[in-house]
Amino acid sequence: MLFRFNTLAPSRLIQLSAHLSGQKRMFAGYTKTKFPLNTGAEIPAIGFGTWQDKESQEDAVFEALKAGYRHIDTARVYGTEPGVARGIQKSGVPRSDIFITTKLWNNSHHPDDVEKACDASLKDLQTDYIDLYLMHWPSPFAQSDKLFPKDGDKILAGKTDYVDTYKAMEKLVETGKVKAIGVSNFSKAELERLLKETSIVPAAHQIECHPYLQQPGFVKWHKEKGIHVTQYSPFGNANPVYEDGKNVPKLIDDPVLTDVGRKYGKNGAQVALAWGIAKGHSVIPKSKTPARIKANLDGDFKLDPDDVQKVDALDKKLRFNDPSESFGWNFYADLDGKK
Ligand SMILES: NC(=O)c1ccc[n+]([C@@H]2O[C@H](COP(=O)([O-])OP(=O)(O)OC[C@H]3O[C@@H](n4cnc5c(N)ncnc54)[C@H](OP(=O)(O)O)[C@@H]3O)[C@@H](O)[C@H]2O)c1
Repeated sequence: MLFRFNTLAPSRLIQLSAHLSGQKRMFAGYTKTKFPLNTGAEIPAIGFGTWQDKESQEDAVFEALKAGYRHIDTARVYGTEPGVARGIQKSGVPRSDIFITTKLWNNSHHPDDVEKACDASLKDLQTDYIDLYLMHWPSPFAQSDKLFPKDGDKILAGKTDYVDTYKAMEKLVETGKVKAIGVSNFSKAELERLLKETSIVPAAHQIECHPYLQQPGFVKWHKEKGIHVTQYSPFGNANPVYEDGKNVPKLIDDPVLTDVGRKYGKNGAQVALAWGIAKGHSVIPKSKTPARIKANLDGDFKLDPDDVQKVDALDKKLRFNDPSESFGWNFYADLDGKK
């Protein structure tokens, strides 16, 4: 008997895979859009973000895997790696079915610290490999056990060059502890220098990107270089931590998104995700709310080209995440949305 797995409703697939392979693999078998990385691996187009609400993440990750997500985004600094591990364990979904991204934090940029930091993430994630290991920011903090080493209120900057940090990450690939490496929050000039001075082309660059901050030239350049783009904060100013987002109406309520969505029976949030996927990007929405977790996964659908163009016209070059002042580094200097 032949099944077209990707056309079945998620709930039907869960029943079906439970029936076919028993409870241990109870949520396995659900497939949606994936994109190839320059390593030959594939990254599921929709991933599950886990920044903030640390205490909710075990349940949220469990709900996400139950709904059909197979890509989880975390980071050392979020403190959510243990919750992610517990959510995965509770789900019974095999590790090999899940794409896990985590990130090296700024206090561990010194080449002597990179493998130790990776080992700590592996331990907390209860796994022996990471699918994608990213340098979270190009900016080093002082070498420290503390995530935010400080002198008074001021974060202590480090001296390690991000090129040296990346070279230490390259060595991790040889150990098998990480399947792919990449970066996050780099400017174009920083990334150009990295490409020139290191051996492995980053598999992915995780950046703030959404219909209000599209950066068309920058994302096109990534395609030319074979670097996959992952969009973080895909709902723009939905994250309440973004102070600058409070003075602007919510991206996900933008009438263009909601009008386009009506045609497909989707909401504005789902259209924002579908737009990112139409660009060939993975998107990593976060939610601790079960109904939203499920709904966001249905943002994996195909927008007609004229609808993609309608969303393209929404670009406002609005950047919400810029910690330049507190981190002591001028991020995004050559990119859209820099204030
Ligand atoms: N590399 C980096 O520097 C970096 C920076 C930022 C984020 N990230 C990653 O990207 C992920 C996503 O970004 P983000 O957390 O900033 O923001 P986001 O996913 O764009 O938005 C999350 C916010 O939107 C709400 N929400 C989720 N689904 C919704 C829906 N369908 N309708 C209405 N509201 C909805 C969530 O609320 P509830 O949770 O209350 O439902 C939460 O407050 C993060 O979790 C993290 O993994 C990476």
